[in-house]
Amino acid sequence: MIVTGGASGIGAAVTSHLREQGADVVVLDRSPGDADPARFVHADLSIAEQVNVAVDEAARILGGIDVLINNAGIGATGDVTEASEDEWTTLWSVNVVGIARTTKAALPYLKMSSRAAIVNTASIVAAIGVPKRAVYAATKGAVVSLTYSMAADFAEFGIRVNAVAPGTADTPWVGRLLDAADDPQAERAALEARQPSGRLVRADEVALAIAYLAHPSSASTNGTVLFVDGGMERLRIPSRT
Ligand code: NAI
Repeated sequence: MIVTGGASGIGAAVTSHLREQGADVVVLDRSPGDADPARFVHADLSIAEQVNVAVDEAARILGGIDVLINNAGIGATGDVTEASEDEWTTLWSVNVVGIARTTKAALPYLKMSSRAAIVNTASIVAAIGVPKRAVYAATKGAVVSLTYSMAADFAEFGIRVNAVAPGTADTPWVGRLLDAADDPQAERAALEARQPSGRLVRADEVALAIAYLAHPSSASTNGTVLFVDGGMERLRIPSRT
């Protein structure tokens, strides 16, 4: 199995959960973090040549590829008047084309597997409007659309493609967002209040959802988006909205 962005946050939680279940997992990331060096390959998803080499290397280490978790992603804050051309280019290249590049490189290996599955990490912002996330939300909307397209394209090869859409999750990423806020404590309280559950989503909760979608026991689940968002997409609880 390959987990992109497996060196931190949700990807690290998925990696450790899958390993607990007995899976052999290679982390593909642009920075190693705390990843096991024997099961880490470096690649920047915005560079096709690096992705191709890294996926081949991961397949060599693993002896093939059954599962690809396209989880790596980057964020940006602001509305369209604040977004720079560079942000549009960079986020699109990593969050959307990064998935396409990695999937293209892994496809020959996935085709050889009898239990092939791809899971993409989208976001709650693909489905609802959240202020100041314009570029990021646009890329995650594209991840959802790409998930449907890939599921349709690869069904003939028996490769399932699904996505998870996490709500605001307690990861280093959100830690960085809070650090950048004028009042991190107030910002955290606001993010928690935005969740119908009243708390942030935990990375291990998203990891379980990804593991479910990747597992052959979910063989009839294809082309879906599983929201792991504390109810943010569907629920309206007056005391919390
Ligand atoms: P994180 O920042 O903790 O981890 C992201 C990982 O992706 C890092 O290890 C980073 O090095 C890697 N990465 C970033 N750009 C890369 C590139 N160009 N090439 C290779 N690796 C790269 O973030 P977190 O929170 O774990 O996010 C993981 C995914 O979950 C992302 O796709 C994010 O959009 C999504 N997500 C996160 C939410 C949150 O609230 N934390 C909510 C909804 C979705």
